[in-house]
Amino acid sequence: MTKNIILGVTGSIAAFKAAIIVSKLKSLEFDITVIMTKSAQSFIHPLTFRTLSQNKVVTDIFIDESVYNPQHVSIAHKADLFVIAPATANVIGKLASGIADDALTSTVMASNVPVLIAPAMEENMYMNPITQRNINILQEVGYKFIGPEKGRLASGKTGVGRLADVELIIKTIVDELANSADSIANLPVNHTDEVNGRKESNAENKAEDKEKKRLRGPAVTRLYESGRKRHGSVRSS
Ligand SMILES: Cc1cc2nc3c(=O)[nH]c(=O)nc-3n(C[C@H](O)[C@H](O)[C@H](O)COP(=O)(O)O)c2cc1C
Repeated sequence: MTKNIILGVTGSIAAFKAAIIVSKLKSLEFDITVIMTKSAQSFIHPLTFRTLSQNKVVTDIFIDESVYNPQHVSIAHKADLFVIAPATANVIGKLASGIADDALTSTVMASNVPVLIAPAMEENMYMNPITQRNINILQEVGYKFIGPEKGRLASGKTGVGRLADVELIIKTIVDELANSADSIANLPVNHTDEVNGRKESNAENKAEDKEKKRLRGPAVTRLYESGRKRHGSVRSS
């Protein structure tokens, strides 16, 4: 079945590379929905993504009156994976603080799927203790980071903050989707289930499992996932 990927694009000079990412993912036959921040639209036109993804591009949370279900909810629910590339210091900070004031941040928060973040920014922004703290907060709840790498930055300086190589981003996406096939559905609901050696659930246990999963929510789900799956080049702790 076709996998649905949401690609968040933010206001970085590396935003043009998101077009290459969409093009490559599309050639791998994924379904891509691009969500752009307002700042991202200063760097690259939504039409580029619309053409490459062959899907509507989300540019504003309040724009689509044609659907009853709010966009950030309906898009979030059909996604298999969330990718933000490039991710600004600003959007990383917003997500770490639980701010959901635009289409991108509100859709991330409304989703219940793995989130991959590929930051891109000047070295000082990346090394800033606030940015590092925000990254740690997101990693603690299971968001995975791809890069950034060291290289030539927009300022002309060389340093850490350059968007990870596009091929690495694509590979990480493909690996993540392959891994997620056997993720949460196969996990025990809690450690005591494992310790007690419970192999199969009866109807009562299944109802209980469902309720526990509902209560523990996406953040804890991602914690379980991040503990199980680690990629060589992906920072997940
Ligand atoms: C030319 C230019 C390049 C920028 N590049 C970056 C960048 O690579 N990374 C970053 O974090 N911010 C960058 N910024 C600043 C962001 O665009 C700014 O923080 C903006 O508010 C981010 O909005 P967003 O996170 O909603 O997309 C840049 C700004 C300008 C004017």
